[in-house]
Amino acid sequence: MPHHLRLGVNVDHVATLRNARGGLHPDPVKAAELAAAAGADGITAHLREDRRHIRDADMYALKDVGLPLNFEMAATTEMLAIASDVLPHACCLVPEKRQELTTEGGLAVHAGQNHLKPFIARLQDQGIRVSLFIDPETVELEAARHLGADIVELHTGPYTKATGAERATELRRLRDAAALAQRLGLECHAGHGLTFDTVEAVAAIPNMVELNIGHFIVGEAVFIGLDAVIRRMRALMDAGRRSIP
Ligand code: PXP
Repeated sequence: MPHHLRLGVNVDHVATLRNARGGLHPDPVKAAELAAAAGADGITAHLREDRRHIRDADMYALKDVGLPLNFEMAATTEMLAIASDVLPHACCLVPEKRQELTTEGGLAVHAGQNHLKPFIARLQDQGIRVSLFIDPETVELEAARHLGADIVELHTGPYTKATGAERATELRRLRDAAALAQRLGLECHAGHGLTFDTVEAVAAIPNMVELNIGHFIVGEAVFIGLDAVIRRMRALMDAGRRSIP
């Protein structure tokens, strides 16, 4: 049996629901505690510049849940200061545009982002592991290595949106990128848009270490409950692992 594939549960959209009414319910920290009880290996949350879902205080409270916290953020001085105070287990650097509904693409690290090198080093100096959210392309992986990242998180959005032959092509891109990550000494994570229908094939990529999943889990919890969604997601991920020869 290949190594355990970690499930990071992203609780951003529990905060989206909370903020819709301006009160305290539903609480993303309670969701994180339930996720821990259901078998999640980590909690992920994205503190956006506009604080549209997760807020600063949530980050501190989520760290106290006791699972490794993956702090998604844009590479800004504001976020560097907050992450340096929260001291999460890991930071995942993502591109951020104010008008987007969700993270639209990978970081494009190859396109002249050398300023990220000292930024990454500052986080690592504080014991924080650094992940770069990138498209599954050779130039991006090589740039992530050059910048000194510990981890790459491959963007699964295009794969989850594709159908038929195009989906197979997107899956191959993810597999090839994961294999290259291993050759470059980068830990490989993946996420964005994953569902019950799309998770198993990604879980079957041998050197995948962690999947981060949020929107589908929170949405499906409306119908079957958070505990049941996470357990089913876990079971599908395990089925994907078992299919590895
Ligand atoms: N990974 C990264 C880097 C993301 O930005 C997001 C969305 O916040 C996710 C994973 C999770 O995506 P989804 O909410 O579509 O499952």
